[in-house]
Amino acid sequence: MRGMNPFRPTFGASPHLWAGRQQILTDFATGLAGGPGDPHRSLVIGGARGIGKTVLLTELEDIAISNGWVVLRATGREDTVDTLVNSTIPAKLNELDPPAKRTVTGVSIAGVGRIDSDVADHTEPVPTLGLRLRELLALLETGVMITVDEVQDADPESLSRLAVTYQDLIRDEANVSLVMAGLTHGIGKLLDLPGTTFLRRARRYELGPLQDEDVARILTGTSDKPFDDVAPAVEIAQGYPYLVQLLGYLAYARSGERIGAADIAAVRDECVETMGAQVHHPSLKDVPAAQLAYLHAMADGLTSTSDIAERLGKTPNATTDTRSKLLDRGLIDVAGWGHVQLALPYLAEFLRGGGRINRIS
Ligand SMILES: Nc1ncnc2c1ncn2[C@@H]1O[C@H](COP(=O)(O)OP(=O)(O)OP(=O)(O)O)[C@@H](O)[C@H]1O
Ligand SMILES: [Mg+2]
Repeated sequence: MRGMNPFRPTFGASPHLWAGRQQILTDFATGLAGGPGDPHRSLVIGGARGIGKTVLLTELEDIAISNGWVVLRATGREDTVDTLVNSTIPAKLNELDPPAKRTVTGVSIAGVGRIDSDVADHTEPVPTLGLRLRELLALLETGVMITVDEVQDADPESLSRLAVTYQDLIRDEANVSLVMAGLTHGIGKLLDLPGTTFLRRARRYELGPLQDEDVARILTGTSDKPFDDVAPAVEIAQGYPYLVQLLGYLAYARSGERIGAADIAAVRDECVETMGAQVHHPSLKDVPAAQLAYLHAMADGLTSTSDIAERLGKTPNATTDTRSKLLDRGLIDVAGWGHVQLALPYLAEFLRGGGRINRIS
């Protein structure tokens, strides 16, 4: 037995060992170096639940921070703009330029511009996002990165205010970056709204499954116990980052000095069941009967939208609305013309098992 389990099957928790997504990281670093208006400073990242959007945002934030940038984190789950204006940015301003020290002149902090006296009072009335950001930028020689997670839940009005402000700052050659992440279809819908037009020109990335060699690297590189053979674990994980961490965690926990084939085989079912309890069950919670019926037809192996409609005893047109609602929920993906697929690994098994949560240890 070794020390603490090094795997982290927790949403939003950065892994001990990162692998994959190299292109995005490189592009972003290039964008920061590229100067104001560089297209790689505006990113929109889409993907299914548990595919690694939040931890990718954290990696990108780390790149910005290591370049001396200030990072402002926001989420679509709260009023994005109000939170930035009324708490996140004021907190940063006070951190960089504490009110008590504001009389000090000529102080220079690494990465921070020269601070002179009589900087505007940070509690002026009716601040707007644009004013706040300009105030912050004035204190910096570097730039400001804004990240917005869970964009699919954002209020369109708030997102559009953010987009307009960001566009203004870019026009003024400010050093700003905006990176947004969320469920694929929800993002698509938000970017189609008027007011967010500008964001449609941002670099779009769609996170797919990790490559098998990256999965193998995460498993063997995270664990301080050697794997006898990592291949069966890679197969179970199906490139899905949450499953990689979960499987690693469970196999590590039950193994002795080495992680053997028996350890991996023994935790396979628990892994799939936990995936059901943690991911499938919550995402199916409020799904109405018509959509569930559609999913069950898919779980039985149907992928053609006309076959699914036929199974449901409906015309293809009558199921269009159901399909688009399932796309919105991130439960299915379009898989070529007239075809759909379940968006998450083991969702078919979960549905075929009656959508119940079984034993969880
Ligand atoms: N590139 C990676 N390398 C190693 N582990 C990863 C990687 N990407 C994600 N993970 C792991 O996968 C799990 C899920 O990641 P994350 O929480 O970022 O997913 P998400 O896409 O934000 O999910 P949700 O849509 O529910 O917010 C976490 O345990 C995380 O540590
Ligand atoms: Mg997330």
